[in-house]
Amino acid sequence: MFFIPSELTTFATYLKVMYRNNTCGALRITDSNKEVVLSGWVHKSRDKGFVVWVDLRDRYGITQLVFDQERTSAKLLEKARSLGRESVIRVKGQVIERASKNPNIPTGEIEVLVSELTLLNESLLPPFTIEDETDGGEDIRMKYRYLDIRRNPVKENLVFRHKVSMEVRKYLSNQGFIDVETPYLIKSTPEGARDFLVPSRMNEGQFYALPQSPQTFKQLLMVGGMDKYFQIVKCFRDEDLRADRQPEFTQIDCEMAFVEQEDILNTFEGLTRHLLKEIKGVEVDTFPRITFDDAMKRYGNDKPDIRFGMEFGELNEVAQHKGFNVFNSAELVVGIAVPGAATYTRKEIDALIDWVKRPQVGAKGMVYVKCNEDGSFKSSVDKFYDQEDLANWAKETGAKAGDLICVLSGEVNKTRAQLSALRMELAERLGLRKPNEFAPLWVIDFPLLEHDEETGHYHAMHHPFTSPKPGQLELLDTDPGAVKANAYDLVLNGNEIGGGSIRIHDKETQAIMFKHLGFTEEEAKNQFGFLMDAFQYGAPPHGGIAFGLDRLVAILGGQETIRDFIAFPKNNSGRDVMIDAPATIDSEQLKELHLKLDL
Ligand code: AMO
Repeated sequence: MFFIPSELTTFATYLKVMYRNNTCGALRITDSNKEVVLSGWVHKSRDKGFVVWVDLRDRYGITQLVFDQERTSAKLLEKARSLGRESVIRVKGQVIERASKNPNIPTGEIEVLVSELTLLNESLLPPFTIEDETDGGEDIRMKYRYLDIRRNPVKENLVFRHKVSMEVRKYLSNQGFIDVETPYLIKSTPEGARDFLVPSRMNEGQFYALPQSPQTFKQLLMVGGMDKYFQIVKCFRDEDLRADRQPEFTQIDCEMAFVEQEDILNTFEGLTRHLLKEIKGVEVDTFPRITFDDAMKRYGNDKPDIRFGMEFGELNEVAQHKGFNVFNSAELVVGIAVPGAATYTRKEIDALIDWVKRPQVGAKGMVYVKCNEDGSFKSSVDKFYDQEDLANWAKETGAKAGDLICVLSGEVNKTRAQLSALRMELAERLGLRKPNEFAPLWVIDFPLLEHDEETGHYHAMHHPFTSPKPGQLELLDTDPGAVKANAYDLVLNGNEIGGGSIRIHDKETQAIMFKHLGFTEEEAKNQFGFLMDAFQYGAPPHGGIAFGLDRLVAILGGQETIRDFIAFPKNNSGRDVMIDAPATIDSEQLKELHLKLDL
């Protein structure tokens, strides 16, 4: 045993600084008279001459510090007065009851009368205010993201994300899933986007690809017998960015062996239900299931927001062959009933027509019908349709007195997409997309293949490892577009938060799929030979799903912009403006990587 002389232990104790014995969010009136030590950032201070108040902030909250002439030394008061915003300090003092209380914050009944103040670090004046409502624009906040993270809305989003991912881990681990890490330096995985590539120094002229998902590895884990796998994992996709897309994002990636589609849907419905309950306190019924074809027909969209109605009513039967040429020549005439919008003025309706004609939507025009309270109808095409015709339109779209029917027409897919955009826009304007209402659903029976208009080829709608529905393999030769897959998406509030499939697990079927996707045998072997080989060593039937964690967290948080839930996101040009990446590299590094730039 060591013998430490007592004067040394005292010295050691003296050396160890006690930065805090409470956080800035902890103290209450019941702590009155306690001696406390707090550390944090100077949020703001108020100097009334004889008394200085400082709001001290840390991750947990704000505690008011007080320095005054009567109870504090003049020196200390002077020191408090000189503190700049965002400097880091440590204080010691006594908790006292505040004379004027602030009911808006949990520590609002007390303040700390400071007896000791240490300046731990100074701060430059921040380029924007560290307040919930800041004066800093998006660009400046991204450049100084570490300061933005000090603000409550950003900090709370990160804490919220942590809560969600911890619940996910807890739930899946309790269900017997094993968290296995898979490599980031791999070979191309075909999820439909471009790869980010990494040159190999040791293998001249060769490149790794960063995973678009761990898809092939999780299938190999099934061959390896890890029959329930999950991973919260970064994925990389070089694609155009939107509010719900980042070039690097996080998936909750899962795979199970010896399962059918039903098992996967039940397991992950369980996870989603658990999260809604634990995180939002919301109990939801069994998730509705809708086929892809039905979703397109009823909502014009494979990720319908079903928090509100406004389902599509197809009007071909009741609107064609009545002399209105625009409709007669259209493949599809389809409408929605907008609740309560019969009161829209001519100006408002014209604005709506302009909205659907914007290039982003692309409709040629819009026909409308006002369903008056007295049961009569007034339409923009009264010349062609009588009251009985319009009553039929109302029936098909489910319109009631007081509603406005909006009708678009044209080629099926385009018209559905346009009306879907209008449906979402109107729901937004009418406040029907309520952030604290949650309406999950499964979209099932996706087509296996998707026709690429540009190249004229088919490609896998989900990915090439997705299995066709039983008995549909033969259809691949005769009507490839009609083949349905064992593929499903989980949709929450109009957002695709997850997608997966039952996989092909035999070499022959996989070879047939590659052939139909336009891979030569050589190309398939080159790119996926390792998987085909593995399938020869007893691959079990398997399937899985991946959730977009960023999207899931954002939607649970009542928002749709995933950037706000990522600590260090990229901007719309894929740049990290804080660290200034991507960046050029010097010629030595290029040489080492055997790369030549020809710009
Ligand atoms: P998928 O490509 O559908 O499937 O991706 C799964 C989920 O990931 C989210 N997601 C994204 N989130 C943010 N930014 C992006 N760029 C982005 N791309 C996708 C979506 C999506 O539903 N390997 C398969 C899963 C499987 O078959 O098991 C896959 O990656 O929420």
